[in-house]
Amino acid sequence: MAKLDNLLCVVTGGARGIGKAVCAAFIAEGARVVLTDIDEAEGRKAAAELDCEWHRLDVASEADWDALVQAFPAIDVLVNNAGITGFEDGPAPHDPENASLEEWHRVHAVNTDGCFLGCRYALRAMKERGEGSIINMSSRSGLVGIPGAAAYAASKAAIRNHTKSVALYAAQQGWRIRCNSVHPAAVLTPIWEPMLGEGPEREANMAALVADTPLKRFGTVEEVAALCTYLASPESAYMTGSELTLDGGLLAGSAASPG
Ligand SMILES: NC(=O)c1ccc[n+]([C@@H]2O[C@H](COP(=O)([O-])OP(=O)(O)OC[C@H]3O[C@@H](n4cnc5c(N)ncnc54)[C@H](O)[C@@H]3O)[C@@H](O)[C@H]2O)c1
Repeated sequence: MAKLDNLLCVVTGGARGIGKAVCAAFIAEGARVVLTDIDEAEGRKAAAELDCEWHRLDVASEADWDALVQAFPAIDVLVNNAGITGFEDGPAPHDPENASLEEWHRVHAVNTDGCFLGCRYALRAMKERGEGSIINMSSRSGLVGIPGAAAYAASKAAIRNHTKSVALYAAQQGWRIRCNSVHPAAVLTPIWEPMLGEGPEREANMAALVADTPLKRFGTVEEVAALCTYLASPESAYMTGSELTLDGGLLAGSAASPG
């Protein structure tokens, strides 16, 4: 038997990057996957390529979540993967002194509200059968401060903490609904494009991003997807409220050593 046989798995932000790789990995393990995204054109294209179902979903919209669970009432696995940095339209101040309230809210609307809504709708959809797995895509940025991307870091920290509330709440109800968070460091996907730039500075920017990473490279989308497959499958049945880092050793210590 494949690891995810007979499971209905919904992935948000599945049109590209990590979400698309999660969809592919779940399909390879026998899941019935619903690929969702706010980007209709790219989402449809990815779903056709992977040969899975497509449903348009803006994670920040309650109406969209209502429509999703009406279309797919028996969700077994939800991956709350969709997220934004706030730099999608180019550079803008995101430090604690200069970030605008509007920018702060824009990032939290997708990352924090999206995760909250996803968890709420998943609990409601899963509770009748009393089991399921919710996987929240946080970040290593949810575990440390990021002065130039404060809204992103705070939103990912909120996801980490909410994961634990959801896990404990579900356990209190006597449900076997698990909720865990995943914390990747830099994984090369289109999310980095606005920050890498074009031309000669691109290589230097890429090297700088992994310079402090002990394993000296980016993570891959397949590596994140493999962890999600584990968290989605019954193999991780005893794991809930956990946070799993996938960061090439970045958070294992500090480059600032004594002497
Ligand atoms: N790539 C990394 O280095 C990295 C590291 C840590 C955490 N993450 C997290 O992993 C997740 C995926 O990142 P990625 O690198 O694949 O990003 P990406 O930008 O390549 O893909 C994100 C996808 O989310 C979709 N999306 C954006 N807003 C949405 C919304 N409101 N509703 C639904 N979909 C929406 C986009 O259309 C896109 O398809 C994000 O939550 C990100 O914060 C990424």
